[in-house]
Amino acid sequence: MVPSRPSQTAEAVCFMRATEQARPQAARILDDPYAAAFLGPLSRAALGLGRRSPLAVGAGVVPQLTTYILCRHRLIDDALVAALARAEDRVEQVVVLGAGYDARAWRFADALAGRPVFEVDFPATQARKERILRGLDLPEVDVRRVPIDFQVDALGAVLAKAGFVPGRPTFFVWEGVSMYLRREAVVGTLETLHALGGPGSTLAMDFWFVLDDPGMTATFHRATASLLSLLGEPITFALHPEEAPHFCARHGWQVRDLADAAELARRYVRDGRRVYPANAVLIATPSSTAASPTT
Ligand SMILES: C[S@@+](CC[C@H](N)C(=O)[O-])C[C@H]1O[C@@H](n2cnc3c(N)ncnc32)[C@H](O)[C@@H]1O
Repeated sequence: MVPSRPSQTAEAVCFMRATEQARPQAARILDDPYAAAFLGPLSRAALGLGRRSPLAVGAGVVPQLTTYILCRHRLIDDALVAALARAEDRVEQVVVLGAGYDARAWRFADALAGRPVFEVDFPATQARKERILRGLDLPEVDVRRVPIDFQVDALGAVLAKAGFVPGRPTFFVWEGVSMYLRREAVVGTLETLHALGGPGSTLAMDFWFVLDDPGMTATFHRATASLLSLLGEPITFALHPEEAPHFCARHGWQVRDLADAAELARRYVRDGRRVYPANAVLIATPSSTAASPTT
């Protein structure tokens, strides 16, 4: 990650979301009508060229990754909308960690019904997003931009400055970020979120893991993950789905839903697309006991 320039992986996953708009509605995993607005000239041109573009060819090398990105966004969309609608959770605020070009604040403006959305990210990505948003016709929402470097800054302190109320029911989105952090930052974030959110809170996050199959396909997946280092955004944190519930429980969160590639495909794919197998998504709620000390 190069903190001084807008995140390239944020634009890459936004590109993947934008490509879905070209599919017939019935086959779409996700509807993100705002995604295309955040694309730079290159990716916008690529989107226009469709299948003939170099980016689409690149995406064709790892089409399963695109399908995964769409499925994880969809699962988190569904969890957010369900939590906002559940009267017993009384969700009062939403925090999107490493928000990138996440457009849920506007896509779900009605369901949010005025609840604040705290978008937390590096300032460079936020500044670019802000600039683009100024040119769009958007529903009225309470979005608060919170600049941070997760590896350096104290999340609780920066959120409090933006008006976040600790101890209240909060929906935390932590999508496409944990894999870029060091283990201690992931642990620290889980424990901080546990301390910040009150009963009724939910955490939605995804994570990457090493495929232990020695075959060519898994070797290719391991190699493509390493290529992200070339964008300055190396993958550094891995968590196997089998270990995720125990890991989350140690740091304050009880896993309620865990979807790997097969489960994501079962839930959301209607046209035979395959899902990149080295990631999973989980939804968790705070454990009643406090997080154990960092180990
Ligand atoms: C792959 S993008 C995901 C963006 C968004 N969550 C989505 O799924 O569309 C990763 C995001 O995490 C942010 N990020 C990564 N490491 C960070 C750090 N140490 N501090 C703040 N933001 C960070 C990047 O700026 C980027 O917006």
